[in-house]
Amino acid sequence: MKIAPSLLSCDFSVMGQEIERMDKSGADYMHLDVMDGHFVPNLTFGAPVIKAVRKYTDKPFDVHLMISEPLKYIDDFADAGADIITFHYESDSDIQKTIDKIKSRGVKPGIVIKKCTDAKEIFPYLKDLYMVLVMTVEPGFGGQAFMADMLPRVGEIRREAEKVNPDLLIEVDGGINAQTITQAYEAGVDICVAGTAVFKAEDSAKAITELKNLCR
Ligand code: DX5
Ligand code: ZN
Repeated sequence: MKIAPSLLSCDFSVMGQEIERMDKSGADYMHLDVMDGHFVPNLTFGAPVIKAVRKYTDKPFDVHLMISEPLKYIDDFADAGADIITFHYESDSDIQKTIDKIKSRGVKPGIVIKKCTDAKEIFPYLKDLYMVLVMTVEPGFGGQAFMADMLPRVGEIRREAEKVNPDLLIEVDGGINAQTITQAYEAGVDICVAGTAVFKAEDSAKAITELKNLCR
C-alpha cells in the first residue's frame, strides 16, 4: 500500500518543513487538497502555494482539485509542478476536455468521485486515466469518519479497468487510519490518502509504517 499524506492537516506556517518531514517519514506521494469555497464549503490554497513548496521534496505531488471549474486552472497547477491532477466528476468542466488538457501538459490525469456518483458513470473515461480517486468522506474537511460503503465502487472500477486500462491506480481519500485501512487494502486500493492519522500522530514515520504493515 502506498501512503499519500494530506497536507490539509499539516502546520501551514511551516508547510515546506512539513513536506520534508513527510518525505523522511516514508510518504509515497504528497496529497494537496485545493478547495475553492464553492465546489466544497471550505477554502485552502491554490497554485502559488503549491509552486512555493514544490522544492521541498522529489516525491510526486498528487493534487486533488475540489473546485467548480478545474479546466480553467489546469495550466496553473501544471506550472506549479503537479505530477498528478485529479478533478471531480461532479465539477462543471467538460470531463474529456479536462483530461485532454491535463495530458497535453504532461501531467497524469485522475477523476475523483464522491458518494453521489456511481462507478459506472466514469467507465467511458477509464482508458484515458492514470488514477481514479474514490472519496470515502464527503469532500471539504479532514478528520471525518470513513464511509466503508464506498469500497464496493473500488471493485467495480477495478473490474472494468482490467479490460481497458490494467495499470490504472485506485486511491481512496478520507477517514483512513489504523482501524480502516485494512478494509481499503482488501478492496484492492493502491494508494491511501491520510491526513489526521499521519499528521496528528505523535510519530508520523511510525504511523505511516504501521498503516503499511496493516496491508499485507
Ligand atoms: C477531504 C480531503 C482529504 C482529507 C483527508 O476533502 O480531500 O484529503 O484531508 O483527511 P483525513 O485523513 O483526516 O480524513
Ligand atoms: Zn483529498
